[in-house]
Amino acid sequence: MLGFLNDKLKKSDSQGTGKVIALMNQKGGVGKTTMAYNMAHALKSKGHKVLCIDMDPQFNFSLLFGEYVPDQLNVHHLLINSVRELKPMHTEAFLSEVIKKSSSGIDILCAGQELSGFELSVAGISGPRQLILKKFIESNALKERYDYIVIDGPPTLGLLVVNILCACDGVLFPFIPDAFSEQGLRNIRNVLLDIGEMGIVTPPKILGYIPNLFEARRKKSREDFNHIKDEFSDGEIFEPFMNRAHFARSMANKKSVFDYEASDYKELQGQFMNVVGSIENQLMS
Ligand SMILES: Nc1ncnc2c1ncn2[C@@H]1O[C@H](COP(=O)(O)OP(=O)(O)O)[C@@H](O)[C@H]1O
Ligand SMILES: [Mg+2]
Repeated sequence: MLGFLNDKLKKSDSQGTGKVIALMNQKGGVGKTTMAYNMAHALKSKGHKVLCIDMDPQFNFSLLFGEYVPDQLNVHHLLINSVRELKPMHTEAFLSEVIKKSSSGIDILCAGQELSGFELSVAGISGPRQLILKKFIESNALKERYDYIVIDGPPTLGLLVVNILCACDGVLFPFIPDAFSEQGLRNIRNVLLDIGEMGIVTPPKILGYIPNLFEARRKKSREDFNHIKDEFSDGEIFEPFMNRAHFARSMANKKSVFDYEASDYKELQGQFMNVVGSIENQLMS
């Protein structure tokens, strides 16, 4: 009887209408972090309550928010602590002391280089290693507390990536229209297919592909773009983001494109608003 009640309580805990979205590509330098940061600000500007989770051991997302502090407890410690059999062996970590409120009003769970040891840390556990992040989000009722949870993924294909894909409702793939990025897309989409075949969770919806650093004047770039468009027809292909120095500059200044008034930035703001508008529609349920 008590067990039944506990189950019921757990289930109602995990409910919530918030959506988890992730920016993924096995290739680095394609704009995952840039897109995640600006999309989080776009969602915030539409009045949503937003939590960002940095899942890249290189913690660039955390640095952009200006919230990274070396040697502080981070999302890695929270995840390890959320596994009952690992908890006694590690420093205690509480969500309330790890979550940071950034000046933009967006909350952030920072990453740290410890995340690169995540796979090894959880290697021996008896429960499903793929579902640690999903269960962490559920047991802390994060989908009740936030409208959108934006995850910045690492440029790898291991257990961290599987955890992210199992935890999210929708996934976006930024890419540079070139052969390397195309291979990165193919590899991560295969992981997504494997997750579907495993049958342990409903795989996330492919919300779309975001072409970035597109050089419309170069024939090769146009050809590669068209090739990728043909091969990846299972999600929306968004309007390409061009290579823009002032875009990179805003990132270098740890600002989103929404912090600027100039017309170039207005155009980028519009592009990001289009992307999040599509996400809102696609995840409406
Ligand atoms: N459209 C763009 N125009 C100019 N620079 C960009 C653009 N998109 C990304 N960058 C820059 O490229 C670098 C890599 O982007 P980043 O978002 O860190 O990629 P990833 O997270 O996939 O490794 C960053 O320095 C970023 O500021
Ligand atoms: Mg990154």
